[in-house]
Amino acid sequence: MTGEATETDGGARERLEAVLNGLDAAVYAADARDGEILFANRAFQALHGADTVGWVLRDLVVPLPERGDYRVDPRGLGVADVPCELFDGELPQPRTGRWYHVREQAMRWVDGRVVRLGIATDITDRKETAEIARRQEERISRTARLITMGEMASMLAHEINQPLSAIANYCNGCAARMQAGAEARDLLPAMRKAAAQAERAGRIIRRIREFVKKREPRRGAVSVAAILDDALAFVDIDASRRGIRLVVDVAPGLPAVRADRIMIEQVVLNLVRNGFDAMRDAAGDERVLTVRARARGGHLVEIAVIDRGHGIDEEDRERLFQPFFTTREDGMGMGLSICRSIIEFHDGRLAVEPNPEGGTIFTFTLPVEEVARE
Ligand SMILES: Nc1ncnc2c1ncn2[C@@H]1O[C@H](COP(=O)(O)OP(=O)(O)O)[C@@H](O)[C@H]1O
Ligand SMILES: [Mg+2]
Repeated sequence: MTGEATETDGGARERLEAVLNGLDAAVYAADARDGEILFANRAFQALHGADTVGWVLRDLVVPLPERGDYRVDPRGLGVADVPCELFDGELPQPRTGRWYHVREQAMRWVDGRVVRLGIATDITDRKETAEIARRQEERISRTARLITMGEMASMLAHEINQPLSAIANYCNGCAARMQAGAEARDLLPAMRKAAAQAERAGRIIRRIREFVKKREPRRGAVSVAAILDDALAFVDIDASRRGIRLVVDVAPGLPAVRADRIMIEQVVLNLVRNGFDAMRDAAGDERVLTVRARARGGHLVEIAVIDRGHGIDEEDRERLFQPFFTTREDGMGMGLSICRSIIEFHDGRLAVEPNPEGGTIFTFTLPVEEVARE
């Protein structure tokens, strides 16, 4: 009887070891009580350059979770308590600098003992790829902002020029009145107005610097109304210069979205400026650009930029989002391609459709910031 049982155990053990030896991941089984290694697969041994059976699990090449990280203390576990999960996480190996995904489970080993069965998968390459992708995302996003600013440069120059010429006017006015013998007190209102204009110019410059600053994409809870306010502050002077009425229509009680504020402002800016361009030849009463924000279902907010411009030809619609596609003489054709990658980075969708009233509607969605429930 005993012999038969041992043979069955031996067969089961062999089969298990054969499977584990075939894995790329390092696998070990160690006595839950004292950490003595009972089994180590080929990958585990290759990592340590030795047959590690009989060693004690401590300070090996494969990183191990600290005792405090365990869900339960493996040393006190009896046969009745297993199987149970002990650890699941990513750990660095300080000596080699490599990263491992480590999973440890307490289970009954083939000889009846309670063991910690661990699997460590080297994820260094995956982590590095993710890091490269993150850095690239940061670079793309910055380049995108610089391109947007480049396209907007003449408009911004105009915007800054306005407070500057106002300041010049107030100062000249003061100088003329001083020359005519005016009291210092009489100059006060003009001086105050000049100061206010200087502050306005400062605010414009700060906004530009904030926009192009080198920064990592950072997603957090942001209010859609705040995004639209900030973005449209860049273009309202341009709008009035072109005789375009800007209508902002944000549904009350809209939930916050999970987004990078500056990146989404950039999308809004690009879409709004495209809308302006499309209305270049529109009749006066049609020069209206509407930005509308609505909830879509419980998990999305949809933002629509609606113009009454020349619309889009059927055959162009497909190519719109490709880089360098432009029908404008001074266009770069980067705007929509940037917008689409930003929205996709936010797990949203950017789409275009004709406006039934004439013109075009661009819509994009953003995920609602889910509030963690107790
Ligand atoms: N609101 C719009 N109405 C009509 N056509 C548009 C609109 N937005 C974009 N387009 C078309 O898509 C093209 C690409 O836009 P975009 O990528 O922003 O580059 P650019 O503005 O530099 O041309 C534009 O040249 C234009 O032909
Ligand atoms: Mg554009």
